[in-house]
Amino acid sequence: QEDDFKRVISHAKEYGYVFQSSEIYDGLSAVYDYAQNGAELKKNIRDYWWKAMVQLNDNIVGIDAAIFMHPTTWKASGHVDAFNDPMIDNKDSKKRYRADVLVEDYVAKIEAKIEKEVAKAEKRFGDKFDKEQFLATNQRVIDYQEQARSILSRLAKSLEKEDLSDVKKLIEELEIACPMSGSRNWTDVKQFNLMFGTKLGASAESAMDLYLRPETAQGIFVNFLNVQKTSRMKIPFGIAQTGKAFRNEIVARQFIFRMREFEQMEMQFFIKPGTQMEWYETWKENRMKWHLSLGLGEDNYRFHDHEKLAHYADAAADIEFRFPFGFKELEGIHSRTDFDLGNHEKYSGKKLQYFDPETRESYVPYVLETSIGLDRMFLAVFSNSLQEEELENGTFRTVLKLPPVLAPTKAAIFPLLKKDGLPELAQEIVDDLKWDFNVLYDEKDAVGRRYRRQDANGTPFCITVDHQSLEDQTVTIRHRDSMEQERVAIADVKRIIHEQVDM
Ligand code: GAP
Repeated sequence: QEDDFKRVISHAKEYGYVFQSSEIYDGLSAVYDYAQNGAELKKNIRDYWWKAMVQLNDNIVGIDAAIFMHPTTWKASGHVDAFNDPMIDNKDSKKRYRADVLVEDYVAKIEAKIEKEVAKAEKRFGDKFDKEQFLATNQRVIDYQEQARSILSRLAKSLEKEDLSDVKKLIEELEIACPMSGSRNWTDVKQFNLMFGTKLGASAESAMDLYLRPETAQGIFVNFLNVQKTSRMKIPFGIAQTGKAFRNEIVARQFIFRMREFEQMEMQFFIKPGTQMEWYETWKENRMKWHLSLGLGEDNYRFHDHEKLAHYADAAADIEFRFPFGFKELEGIHSRTDFDLGNHEKYSGKKLQYFDPETRESYVPYVLETSIGLDRMFLAVFSNSLQEEELENGTFRTVLKLPPVLAPTKAAIFPLLKKDGLPELAQEIVDDLKWDFNVLYDEKDAVGRRYRRQDANGTPFCITVDHQSLEDQTVTIRHRDSMEQERVAIADVKRIIHEQVDM
């Protein structure tokens, strides 16, 4: 698993998808840059989301609010008081950890012990090995499982009670039970706010303290009435937007899974109070359908219903994806009640009520939110698509099986040889196709190597111009996934590509 993930990260770099930010200065932790292919893939994912949410829904409109917002926004939203992570420092190593993640790491270590026992037994019993039975009957394994379960439930309880001294005790016990940090000298657990602060204004005295937005949602809430009135939407209706968000994440690892600067694609759906559970179910289903439409495999998704709710929600579920490091949150669906609009009314003193023309009543709408990290979606698509395939002749190829609709380059056009007018015809095809798609021209190396390069790049089609092309205006088109080649008329190439890559 770890090797798979390392391969994903190095492939993303080697093929111009994702670079460490400021690499020449040794990088900035948990900050990444999207390179030439990454920027295209990211844009295509964003467009795919926007089309499904805004273009195809008559009752959803899209906006683009500013990253800077009035500081009172974050008082009203609860982020100043409640957007915290519990942190603990190790006094010896001087390392800082997110307390809940540290506990999870200990649990992972216990789970690794279970795996080890299973693997040992499997080796011993061979074909006769029954994993279920082994897990249910082996005393040592049962003890480990019991230990992991009890730790996690104690953690959940103490976080719920907001009793952080319990978390510290838990960590101390865990360090004795399965040593990991090599030191038992911990500070108390403290809350640490995740928002980045900055200043607006020229002089030190007049400058205003601002925060970089930690979610895009608030830009939608504060614009709710303006958008509703100018779009003449009636409830139920939605407002969508995509944009950067910033969080001072302490556990900065797992590549673009958890970043300090990232992009969200959010939609707030404004509804009548009392109808939230219906809409919660509807949006859970809609969003899962969107994911499945990309064909990354049904088994790679699952719902996780939250027991512990964020400060704004009365129901919440995650869509989890099977990342190279296991199932993790990809998208959140939250029933946010009137928490946000109600608080913005209170803090701003402005009415944020919807006037229902049928009942002639005014009310503060409830909100159903869908929120997905664009970078996380990128990682899901990219890691799932990267495959190492054994070919019939026993050799291997690396292929990035991106859904064609998302691939950065839709087709690569090759002249078979660098002479006899083949480059000119290939270039003509490029000049025609580039009005519709991102395409590229490549004449370097043998055709086989050019195919491999595009396989690894994720390009769904390679088009080769040869001597026959000059005679009968046909080319070969090679399909990335099946590696099959067919001879087609140059005049049909555009249509064939459109059929596969259009949204
Ligand atoms: N407005 C609701 C909200 O922000 P969230 O669960 O905190 O909810 C929503 O975030 C989504 O944003 C997550 O499901 C995840 O995909 C993405 N996300 C959150 N923090 C992230 C980070 N540090 N790096 C990358 N993506 C992140």
